Amino acid sequence: MKNIVLIGYMGAGKSTVGIQLSDRFQIAFEDTDQVIEKRQNMEISEIFEKYGEESFRTMETELLAQMAERKGRRVIALGGGTPMRFENRERIKSLGTVIYLRAKPGTIMERLSGDTSRPLLRGGGARQKIEEMLKERGPVYESLSDLIVDTDGKAFENIVDEIGGFYEAACNKRTEP
Ligand code: S3P
Repeated sequence: MKNIVLIGYMGAGKSTVGIQLSDRFQIAFEDTDQVIEKRQNMEISEIFEKYGEESFRTMETELLAQMAERKGRRVIALGGGTPMRFENRERIKSLGTVIYLRAKPGTIMERLSGDTSRPLLRGGGARQKIEEMLKERGPVYESLSDLIVDTDGKAFENIVDEIGGFYEAACNKRTEP
């Protein structure tokens, strides 16, 4: 049985959905941003300020490599930019069942309103930044995913049910003779 790997843009709901999935399947939840923050003893925005984005991306790549070595299964929420490094992509696929939580720019704006923790969306023009990044990132997220879940206007509970059903079916398929 493999991990459940959640990918998608900032504000897509990866952490909320991830925690609920971990409850449902009674497996641990891990959020790569949180692991990196704990290791560095700094918030993501401070890491960006102090070391720059590239260093943060390298921390993500190193963490992915470590996750690939581990046994057991978990729900893993990846940072929105992790799939954008080419070298991370095979590793993401090999980690488990990859679920893309897709959200439209309007939904993302709503979910992130008042949030100041995302350095890439600081400094104004958030809507345009989101639209431009989604154009680049959307096809990559899609290409890596085993399941795409459109999250706009959906309750998290329903999203969790959809993913849970898909994951159970995927696990049963694997164990069939
Ligand atoms: C980023 C997403 C963030 C965090 C960092 C950069 C991105 O994670 O890793 O701010 O490039 O999309 P979330 O997707 O969990 O917000």
